[in-house]
Amino acid sequence: MAYQVIIPAAGQGKRMGAGRNKVLLELNQTPVFIHTLKVFEMDEDCEGIYLAINPLEQDEMEALLKEHHITKVMAFAPGGSERQHSIYNALKCVKQEGIVLVHDAARPFIDKKLLRPLVEAAKEDGAAILAVPVKDTVKKVAGNMVTETVERTSLWAVQTPQAFRFAILLDAYKQAEADDFLGTDDASLVERIGKNVIIVEGRYDNIKLTTPEDLYFAEAIIHKRRKEQQF
Ligand code: CTP
Ligand code: MG
Repeated sequence: MAYQVIIPAAGQGKRMGAGRNKVLLELNQTPVFIHTLKVFEMDEDCEGIYLAINPLEQDEMEALLKEHHITKVMAFAPGGSERQHSIYNALKCVKQEGIVLVHDAARPFIDKKLLRPLVEAAKEDGAAILAVPVKDTVKKVAGNMVTETVERTSLWAVQTPQAFRFAILLDAYKQAEADDFLGTDDASLVERIGKNVIIVEGRYDNIKLTTPEDLYFAEAIIHKRRKEQQF
């Protein structure tokens, strides 16, 4: 089932502390964002990639796309000060209706097999996101005092991709801008305009590279996938 994907890659990677945008760091001799884009390049249902970038990195990124034979990038949108602004800029470049995915460039281990159920759920219900059950016990804390242990069975940790009918996502972004609302994921913008969001169970190894220790986890995932010849 056809879809288009917005990939925000315009961050600074401050928490990674590498002194540069973490999506340009190499894993297995290939930049992180190239790993991510390859998944969509190789998925025949993906009709176009909209990349939000830092304009100062455009030349470097374009050269890497060429080198790695990534052909589906339809537009480069300028990144904004927040992830949400970067995605909105890219969303404005999407011309076709249909299903739009949003996926972080910093999540290179997305399993292609999860894309179809996600896209189908979004087509059926308007919005669908990948998530995994929370494994840790989570407590609410005020200062250094526990105030509540949250019922874990109802907690899910959300990931990207998140998939939406184009019109719903655009409406959600327009409303968020009008209300000056800044969310931590795309689905939260859709939730606040009263639309249902469906959960599709993802995989724990769909990690976002955020802090330096995530690079160790990444090495382990690559090692395992190499053995299975999937990377
Ligand atoms: N992103 C973006 N524009 C921004 C901020 C983030 O396109 N203004 C992208 C990042 O490149 C990343 C994804 O959104 O692929 C998820 O964001 P995050 O993990 O927070 O990355 P950074 O913002 O780069 O990292 P940090 O918050 O540690 O600076
Ligand atoms: Mg960030």
